[in-house]
Amino acid sequence: MKTIAAFPERREVKLVDVPGPGEPDPGQVRLRMREVGICGTDHEIAHFAYGEPPEGADHLILGHEALAEVEAVGGGVTAFHVGDFVAPMVRRPCPHKRCRSCRAGRQDFCFTGDFAESGIKGKHGFMSEACVEDPAYLVPVPAELARYGVLVEPLSIAEKGLQQVWQVQQRLPWSCEPRAEREKAWCHRAVVLGAGPIGMLGAMALVTAGFETYVYSREAADSPRAGLVSAFEAEYVCSEETGLDELASDLGEIDVVYEATGVSWLAFAALERLGINGVFILTGIPGEKGPEEVESARIMRRLVLQNQVIFGTVNAGRSAHEDAVRDLQRFSRQWPEALDGLITARIGLEDVPDTLRERGGGIKTVVSIA
Ligand code: BGC
Ligand code: ZN
Repeated sequence: MKTIAAFPERREVKLVDVPGPGEPDPGQVRLRMREVGICGTDHEIAHFAYGEPPEGADHLILGHEALAEVEAVGGGVTAFHVGDFVAPMVRRPCPHKRCRSCRAGRQDFCFTGDFAESGIKGKHGFMSEACVEDPAYLVPVPAELARYGVLVEPLSIAEKGLQQVWQVQQRLPWSCEPRAEREKAWCHRAVVLGAGPIGMLGAMALVTAGFETYVYSREAADSPRAGLVSAFEAEYVCSEETGLDELASDLGEIDVVYEATGVSWLAFAALERLGINGVFILTGIPGEKGPEEVESARIMRRLVLQNQVIFGTVNAGRSAHEDAVRDLQRFSRQWPEALDGLITARIGLEDVPDTLRERGGGIKTVVSIA
């Protein structure tokens, strides 16, 4: 079967033919891969800045944002049937007894760092025609979501962030009803930094959760990305036209900032504009850089005097994947054109090496496999 693999030693990323999986073991299922999304992590792996083949292998099969169809089930599997759509979870637990998170099925909070990640770290990914998986790591996706199910994994990142916002804000009166159950008036105000896939999906989730949502990014105010943002009832603000100070004084209190650019100076500048009792979520991963000046005393003072919380979040557990499936269903009913606009290209497996070498201008490129 055809796969896309990175060979770190040879610094090569290419389409390779490998033997396909046979019949699944009694406890496993065989998946036919339907679609796999490409993200920044894949670009980093393709440039050998990141990524680690499984032990003993000279290559890593790429791809961690996947939608698949169950093609065969082992004799012992009752939870899934042939023809079911699923999104595989990326992270697998570390082997250590002392890791309470992994032992409790919360490897997204692994304490040891010895977890594996499909297509990223120590485990092959999903850019192939088929693979065999343990059903414990599969999330059911309704067939009606086949067109967008590839977005479950990236959306799960945002959902995990939101789950934590609700948990943190239980510290004060901060309730909010979902948008569908309210007539007008937004509950809270959120600013999303960055209009990439994680920013856009996060913004959609925030709107759905009842936040008056602003997406702050550098693309022009008449760019396709800005148009997409208004299609899902958020407001786009171009950072080239409006500085952070102006944004903050125009908006008033900012209850949540959701960072999805990975640009550290921007994150810290935005942190200074976070409102009283506000929560700041970091999802972007910056590359290493030298020291930079930040207003540390001012930031610290505000964090304390205004009860602010800042947290980072990576990967996601099962419940965040389930929230992603639920929200994708809502998005696909309310704003199908926004989801279609987010997936800016569908390509074949054979196009992946070139696509990873360049860095196209689109939002989300998806590999269609079957
Ligand atoms: C993936 C996460 C993963 C992270 C770090 C991201 O691109 O979406 O699932 O945990 O990379 O490897
Ligand atoms: Zn662990």
